[in-house]
This record gives sequence, structure tokens and C-alpha cells, in this order.
Amino acid sequence: MSSQVPGPVDKISMIRLALKSWPEVEDYLSKCKAVILPIGSTEQHGPTGAIGTDALTAEGVALEVGRRTGVLVTPVQAFGMAEHHLGFPGTMSLQPSTLMAVLNDLILSLARNGFERIFVINGHGGNIATAKASFAQAYGTALGRGLPSSKNLRCKIVNWFMAAPVFYEAKSLYGSKEGQHATPSEISLTLHLEPSLIGKMRPLPEPAPAGPIHGPEDFRRLYPDGRMGSDPYLAKPEHGARFLDKAASALSEDLETFLKQV
Ligand code: NI
Repeated sequence: MSSQVPGPVDKISMIRLALKSWPEVEDYLSKCKAVILPIGSTEQHGPTGAIGTDALTAEGVALEVGRRTGVLVTPVQAFGMAEHHLGFPGTMSLQPSTLMAVLNDLILSLARNGFERIFVINGHGGNIATAKASFAQAYGTALGRGLPSSKNLRCKIVNWFMAAPVFYEAKSLYGSKEGQHATPSEISLTLHLEPSLIGKMRPLPEPAPAGPIHGPEDFRRLYPDGRMGSDPYLAKPEHGARFLDKAASALSEDLETFLKQV
């Protein structure tokens, strides 16, 4: 069954699942079977960036996509697979097997009551492989449990920071200073969403160049301040507003296409 997005709403509060009553959700399901599930991570983002960067950004983009399309947005899953970040205080990680079990259970909870299109908006590269594995597991489990929605259940993960217009904007604003972790693009978005973070920004020395990492000790040894090749001091809240707009446009289009697929 394919369907369309319900259409834009006036206020973000109108598409937050957490603010709905169950009869309101049941009514929504009679018109639309799609839901947006934001997932992030809780991990170091350099010496000046917020630990919650990946969760804040995923949720911020998800709510804006929800506002533009009218599709419900679940609370953010703020803990992700961040095992390689555990060398830095404040990081809270789920092992891949735990994250897989969490996402599997969340998807099945939604599918149990009729949601058929789960659009995962992700803020953390380390979640991608595990999220895709959880989809494969959830399809099998939904079928095994005989859930009515199992035949039509579809899950898709999209990464706001990898959307083409976001990528090109970051390249044009920051060039090679975008780096790979604690990037000025993601920090800009946090400054836009949470202006209290602006005061934490300060100039930083040249970062260690980005390269492969294996475990948490390796990460801390190679990147002692928690950045990878980035200059977060280039981040600005007004850039963040542009990234939000570009990410929400690209992902709203992805969502519409996803809902039209049979
Ligand atoms: Ni990040």
C-alpha cells in the first residue's frame, strides 16, 4: 500500500507523538501509516561541542521534516552505537547488539498497532550499519509474530548530514575544515537549535588529520581533543538555520518518495 504525506502543519507540537493521546494516534493511523523516528548518539564532540550534538541535530531535523509533511515524530533515541567514543567522559554508548535490540523493539511496537513506514532520521554515522541490521531482524520478527502490518512494513534510514545539499553547503562554507567529527556543520545546527551553546565556542589549534580508528583507546590517542580534522570555531547559528532548511527539504522529499513506494 502506498500513501501520501498528510501535509504541512502550523506548529511542531502538532506532530510530536509524545504530545498525542492514544485516540489521536489511532485517528492519525486511519489516514497515514508513516512515522519518523529520530536517532542520535551521546558522545564527545571536540573540546567545545555538546555531548548531545547527534541527538539534538537528528531530533531538530526530524521535527522540521514532520512540520513540513505532517508525519508524526517519535521521541529521539538519544543513545547510539558510540563504542569508539568511550575514551571521553560523558559518552554513553549502546553496543551494536543492544542498539539492534532497541531499534527492533521500537519498530515492532510501532508495527504492532499499524505503522507500516518507519522513516529513521539519523545523526550519527556509527548507527548506520546497526540500524540496517535491525531492519532485517524486524521484518523477520514481524512476519514470525503474524503482525497484520508485516507484509507492508518498510523501514528506511536517512542521514541528515549526508544529504547532498547539506554536503555541498558544508564544503562551500568550510572546505577541508569540515573534517569528519565535531564538524562545523553539525555544531552550527546545534548553535541554531540551542543558542546557549554559542558561548562555549572558542578558537582551537589545528586538529589532528582525519584517518581510520578502531577502538576507544585508539581514538583518544590519535585525536586527543575529540575532533577529527574539523574546525568547529567556524560554526555559526545562521549557518545552522541554513543546514536545517536544506536537510529538511531533502529529507521531506525522501520521505514523500518512501511513502509512494509499493
Ligand atoms: Ni556528530
